[in-house]
Amino acid sequence: MKILITGANGQAGKELTRKGHASGFNILALDLDALDITDKKAVFRVIKDNNISLCINAAAYTNVDQAEDDIEIAFAVNRDGPENIAQACAKVDIPLIHISTDYVFDGNKKGCYIETDQTSPLGIYGKSKKEGELCVKAVLKKHIIIRTSWLYGVYGKNFVKTMLDLGRTRDEISVVCDQTGSASFAADLADAIIVIVNKIQNKEQIDWGTYHYCNKGAISWYEFAVKIFEYAKKYESIKINRVIPVNTKEYPTRAKRPENSAMDCSKIVKTFGVKQPLWSDSLKIMLDRQAHAKR
Ligand SMILES: NC(=O)c1ccc[n+]([C@@H]2O[C@H](COP(=O)([O-])OP(=O)(O)OC[C@H]3O[C@@H](n4cnc5c(N)ncnc54)[C@H](OP(=O)(O)O)[C@@H]3O)[C@@H](O)[C@H]2O)c1
Repeated sequence: MKILITGANGQAGKELTRKGHASGFNILALDLDALDITDKKAVFRVIKDNNISLCINAAAYTNVDQAEDDIEIAFAVNRDGPENIAQACAKVDIPLIHISTDYVFDGNKKGCYIETDQTSPLGIYGKSKKEGELCVKAVLKKHIIIRTSWLYGVYGKNFVKTMLDLGRTRDEISVVCDQTGSASFAADLADAIIVIVNKIQNKEQIDWGTYHYCNKGAISWYEFAVKIFEYAKKYESIKINRVIPVNTKEYPTRAKRPENSAMDCSKIVKTFGVKQPLWSDSLKIMLDRQAHAKR
C-alpha cells in the first residue's frame, strides 16, 4: 500500500511520516516544495504517477491570526487544496484521510462538541477549514475527516515550545484562562490515524465520515502552561515563578478564538478502537522525547 502524505514537514505530517515508516508502509512524504496542494494538475499527477492507494492530507495554512489578512491563501490551501486531493482520489477510487480543526466551532457550547454539532467558525482560518471539510465530503465518499485541536509535538512550532522558550528567560507570564479546549499530542494523532490506515489496508468495513480526535481531558491554556512548566523542570532550568491567569479580553488577538472547543472523541474510539491518552500523560511523553532528542 503506497500512501501519500501531503504537508509532510508540519507537526502532524512529520509524525505521520515517522510512524508510517515504522509501521512498514510505503510512504511518499511531500511538503510544499515538492507538492503544492493548490496546484490541481500536480496533485492529480502525483497520485496517478505514483500509484497511490491512500492519501493523508496534513497540509494546511495554520496561522490563525495571519489568516485574517491572508484570506485568499488560507482558502486556497484549506479549501481548494483538500478539494483537489479529494477529486484526484475520487478519480482513481482511493480514500482520503483529511485533518481538520476544532476552530470550525464557535465555542458557545457548554460541554464537549460532537461531530454532528453545528459548525460556525469565528475567523478566516476556521471558515476555510470548514469549507475544506465540505469540499471533501461533496466529492469523495471514501473520506475520513479528523478534527483535532491544540496540536503540539516535538516537530514544528506550538504552544508547548513557546511556553518553554518563555519559561527559560522570564520570571512570570500571563496566560489565558477563559478558553477551554483539548490538547493533542501529534504522536497520538498519528497513532490514531495509523490504526485507521491499517483497517483500510486490511479491507475492513470502514465507516467513512467525520471524527474528533484529541487527548482526554478539557483544560484552559493557563492549566496547560502550569503543567508544562511543572513537568519541564525535570529536564531543564525553568525560571518562571508565577503563571498569571488572565481573561481573553486582556489578551486580544487578531482572530477571535472559541471560548470552549473541547471535543468528544467517543465516536473514533468506539468505531476504530484507537487509544486516547490523558493530556497530561502525553505532555510528559512529549517533554521526555524532546529532552532526549536534544542530548
Ligand atoms: N496546529 C494546531 O494547533 C492545530 C489545531 C487543530 C487542527 N490542526 C490541523 O491539523 C493539521 C496539521 O496541522 P499542523 O499543526 O501539523 O500544521 P503545520 O505544522 O503548520 O504544518 C502544515 C504543513 O503544510 C504545509 N503547507 C502549507 N501550504 C501548503 C500547500 N499549499 N501545499 C502543501 N503543503 C503546504 C506547510 O509548509 P510550510 O511550513 O512550508 O508553509 C507545513 O509543512 C492541519 O489540518 C491543521 O489545520 C492544527
